[in-house]
Amino acid sequence: MWIAPVCEVEAPHLVRREKRRLLLPPRRRSRHPVFGNEEKQRAAGRAERGENEVGGAAAAAEERERSPLQPHPQPHHQPVPASAAAVGAAMDYQNKHILAPMVRVGTLPLRLLAAEYGADITYGEEIIDHKMVKCERRLNHYLGTTDFVEKGAENVVFRTCPEEKDRVVFQIGTANAARALTAAQLVCKDVAAIDINMGCPKSFSLSGGMGAALLTNPELIHDVILTTLRRNLDTPVTCKIRLLRSPLETVELARRIEKTGVSALAVHGRKVADRPRDPAKWNEIADIAAALSIPVIANGDVFYYEDFARIKEATGATSVMVARGALWNASIFCSSGKLSWEDVKKEYIRKSILWDNDIKSTKHTLKEMIMHYSCLELPEGKAVIKSETTADLARLYGEEEYYHFVAKSRQGLK
Ligand SMILES: Cc1cc2nc3c(=O)[nH]c(=O)nc-3n(C[C@H](O)[C@H](O)[C@H](O)COP(=O)(O)O)c2cc1C
Repeated sequence: MWIAPVCEVEAPHLVRREKRRLLLPPRRRSRHPVFGNEEKQRAAGRAERGENEVGGAAAAAEERERSPLQPHPQPHHQPVPASAAAVGAAMDYQNKHILAPMVRVGTLPLRLLAAEYGADITYGEEIIDHKMVKCERRLNHYLGTTDFVEKGAENVVFRTCPEEKDRVVFQIGTANAARALTAAQLVCKDVAAIDINMGCPKSFSLSGGMGAALLTNPELIHDVILTTLRRNLDTPVTCKIRLLRSPLETVELARRIEKTGVSALAVHGRKVADRPRDPAKWNEIADIAAALSIPVIANGDVFYYEDFARIKEATGATSVMVARGALWNASIFCSSGKLSWEDVKKEYIRKSILWDNDIKSTKHTLKEMIMHYSCLELPEGKAVIKSETTADLARLYGEEEYYHFVAKSRQGLK
């Protein structure tokens, strides 16, 4: 399979500016005429965990020399030889705050937003192997992204960008080792890790032998799939499971998964038949964390920043993953507390505009947020449902000027 060398990426100045914004210290960014300054929340979170922001000072110096609207020199990306992937393939799972995989929600804008607020690792939505194998890898010069586009249908199945390469996890829904490997090989140079979804209880997944169906077929399915990926990829491989009927069964399963050589195991502390409203069983995650040597990622019922420490303490897990808490308010990753929902929502819309997010994904995410904080029957909810384009949403949320600025900047690149 041919993969375009990364040196062909010539990110447009618009995306370059967004990249610098991610790297700049908040004081500098707050004077930016277009973008907001929420990065300080992320910086505070990192400072608290004793982490540096690579490149911040250099980017700030670069920024001082340029007007925000000037075009910038193109980056000099080096081609990545196939063998280079083996170098530095390890992923650090110690004490990480992680955005969970979420179908139709975990696209590029939410991942980047969560990362700005402090998420260390961000999972993409589950993508079914059947769909991924029909895709072609394309460099999107207008956005500075790498797109995986379904041939014929021409829809973007997965969009990522170099800025998130070291933290984005690509999750696959599969029941077939060879197909999973083909899908993973297509994307593995552009992401930090590959994850196999073994917890989805939806009938679509179960009927195809995917998701939670894998939990009940260990010999034939998850051993083969995980081992195949592990042996053939230099990228770290992980998986995400739910709890089985008894703690003993889950521990046995987890031990078996550990033996395949995966880099980490994420455990959603609910059983297949449990509903989201049922409390997550942190004590059963604790049994797994105690039994394994590889990092265990605890998942379930994290709704406030303080919950990251609480679940870690209760389970002894290495890291923590959050889904709904981040969907409803991505600033859950801010160590200084959540920002207002309205502000986060606006920032999400701006990111969706900037990265040209699929309108269906943007609407779905907004609807989920509105359903949590308000009601879809109220005027805002109705207007979101009626919106047909990102321009409609920009108008609805008073981001028309930003929308036109971005559109005009892209025109200038043609
Ligand atoms: C909207 C939504 C979409 C989800 N999609 C996925 C998915 O694609 N893959 C997956 O492994 N889990 C998925 N999940 C499950 C979450 O990753 C997570 O395991 C579950 O919501 C429990 O975490 P929470 O209590 O923090 O919400 C999804 C959950 C939600 C709410």
